[in-house]
Amino acid sequence: MSPRHTPWAEAAADFAIGLGPIPEADWLEGGEADPAARKDALMATHRDLVWAETPGSRAAQAQVLAMVEAATGRAAERPDLPPLYAASRLVADDLVLMQRSDAWRVGALSLSAPTFFSAEQVIGRSLAELHGPVPGFAERFGKRVERIFDGLRDGLVLQRRNWTLVNTDDLFTPRPAPIRARIGQIGPGEAGEALFLRVERQTLRRAPGGAGVVFTIRVWRDPLASLAGDAARLAAFAAAWRQATPAFRAYKGLAPYDALVEGFLRAAGE
Ligand code: HEM
Repeated sequence: MSPRHTPWAEAAADFAIGLGPIPEADWLEGGEADPAARKDALMATHRDLVWAETPGSRAAQAQVLAMVEAATGRAAERPDLPPLYAASRLVADDLVLMQRSDAWRVGALSLSAPTFFSAEQVIGRSLAELHGPVPGFAERFGKRVERIFDGLRDGLVLQRRNWTLVNTDDLFTPRPAPIRARIGQIGPGEAGEALFLRVERQTLRRAPGGAGVVFTIRVWRDPLASLAGDAARLAAFAAAWRQATPAFRAYKGLAPYDALVEGFLRAAGE
C-alpha cells in the first residue's frame, strides 16, 4: 500500500510549524474499527503512561467530547469515564486538551500512540516546556505557536504532519531505548520490512466557547519497502533523508539507521 501521508516529500527535512487550514469535515480521518479496545487495553496495563488530567479540566473535557460526538455521529459509550477519555475511545486519534492559564498548558490527555513521551511526563506542561528538547523551538517557533493558539476561532481546523524513521510498527512507543537497542539485529537485506516511516498527522481546533483547544495526534506507519516501485516517491524520500539538517537528524536519532537506509536506497535504484 502507498503511504497516505508523505510529509518528507513536501519540505526539506528540518523542523517546521507547518500548520495549515483544512475543511472542518476532514478533522478526523477515522478508519480504525475498534479504537476503544486498543486504548482500554493500554489503560489497564499502563494507565499513567496513556492518561492524565488536571483538576478542574472536566468541563473543558466535556466540550471536547461534544465536538467528537458531533464529528463522528456517535455518542460516548461510557459516559461514566472522564469525558476526554470517553471521547478518545470513539476515535483512532490521541486527544490532548490544552488550556490557557499563565500559558497554554496540557489540561488532560489520552495518549495511546506516543512517539517517545508519556502522559505523566507532559501533564500540566506549557507549550514552551513541552518543546524544550526540540532544537531551536523557543527561538524560531515559540511565540508564533502561542499566537496561533490564541487566534483559533470556532470552525477553523489546522493540520500539520511530521515524520521520523523507527525499527518498529508498534503504535505504543513511550520510550526509544528498547527499540533502538534492537537496531543491530536487522540484517542489511531486511531494512525494507524492518524499518518504518512513522508519520504523525496532528490537528488543532478550539473547543466551542473557548474553554480550551484540542490537539489530535494520529500515527501512520509504512514499511520502508512501501517506497519501492514509485521512482518519484523513492527519490523524494532519498532527498529528505540525505538533506536532513544535522539538528533534525540528531534529535530524531537517525544516524544508527544510516547504513540500513542507504543500503535499501541503493538496492532500490537511488
Ligand atoms: C500545534 C502546534 C505545535 C507545533 C507547531 C509543534 C511543533 C513541534 C515540533 C517541530 C516538534 C519536533 C518534532 C516534529 O518535527 O514534530 C514537536 C515535538 C513535540 N511536541 Fe509539539 N508542536 C505543537 C503542539 C504540541 C502540543 C499541543 C503538544 C502537547 C502534548 C506537543 C507536544 C510535543 C512533544 C511531547 C514533543 C516531543 C518533545 C520531546 O522530544 O521530548 N506539541 N512539536
